[in-house]
Amino acid sequence: MTEKRSRRMRSSALSRELIRETRLHKSDLVYPLFVVEGEGIREEIPSLKGCFHLSTDRLEEEIEELYKLGLRYVILFGLPSTKDAEGSSAYSEDGIVQRAVAKIKELREDIYVITDVCICAYTEHGHCGLLDERGGVKNDETVEVLCKVALSHAKAGADMVAPSDMMDLRVREIRRVLDENGYKNLPIMSYSAKFASSFYGPFREAANSAPKFSDRKSYQMDCANANEALREIEQDIEEGADIVMVKPAMPYLDIVQRASQTFNIPIAAYQVSGEYAMLKSAVEQGLMNEDVITESLIAIKRAGADIVITYFAKEIAPLL
Ligand code: PBG
Repeated sequence: MTEKRSRRMRSSALSRELIRETRLHKSDLVYPLFVVEGEGIREEIPSLKGCFHLSTDRLEEEIEELYKLGLRYVILFGLPSTKDAEGSSAYSEDGIVQRAVAKIKELREDIYVITDVCICAYTEHGHCGLLDERGGVKNDETVEVLCKVALSHAKAGADMVAPSDMMDLRVREIRRVLDENGYKNLPIMSYSAKFASSFYGPFREAANSAPKFSDRKSYQMDCANANEALREIEQDIEEGADIVMVKPAMPYLDIVQRASQTFNIPIAAYQVSGEYAMLKSAVEQGLMNEDVITESLIAIKRAGADIVITYFAKEIAPLL
């Protein structure tokens, strides 16, 4: 018997590179941007160090920075100046996201702009939907609002819309409304398996979108459920999603893996704010070295993600 020596191919950087199974590319990465009303604003987000609140007039430098780094994909989140019970500022023609999309497409046609479609940052109560008398979140009425939001993003020039609300049947309805209004070719990336997660904490700080009462467990998924996640993904594919997403990423790699083995469709994974904050502060405190960032992103791809949404995009890009 010959001796099997796995270490042969591990002996040099070049031989390791030759047999590397998973590679990270700049084109895998989507960078989240937080746009705010006002002028001249570029403020570091306390809960997401290294990321900024940007007013539309300060988008240019950010977009140029991303462009020079070779990053071409962004997902937009807006902080509106007014909130109401219905989240109506989310579909206003001159809303913050609508203006930011138009601005970015004007600056650089070849930056691909994805918009997050949800109303939690636009409602006074902070829930992702309209409330009934007892404080429950209404489904079908919310879906109608989401359709208006998605259509307004499309009209502003978005390249893709990404519903993150977790209402039932929203992909079907958004698809229908886009089609009816001349946007048959605008893709939908659905936050399909989105878990009710404490890992969203720093984001809710950043987007001022925390629910004012109760939690999101009546619409986001129970962290204990994997089979249900596959059903959610399957349904979104049937309803017309072009890309399906698992969120958060690292604590849910089993879902990413099963989804990628089960479905023949591009899979996105969102390395969310809490995952970023944990790794970022551990590196800052010297508890782990910064290679942990690459390791985390490779792990997400290795599990089966084709696309990774990550706050580390700018940091990691120079290494790719
Ligand atoms: C909006 C939305 C959330 C995130 C993305 N879109 C927050 C939530 O559901 O409370 C979280 C992203 C992150 O934590 O990085 N519904």
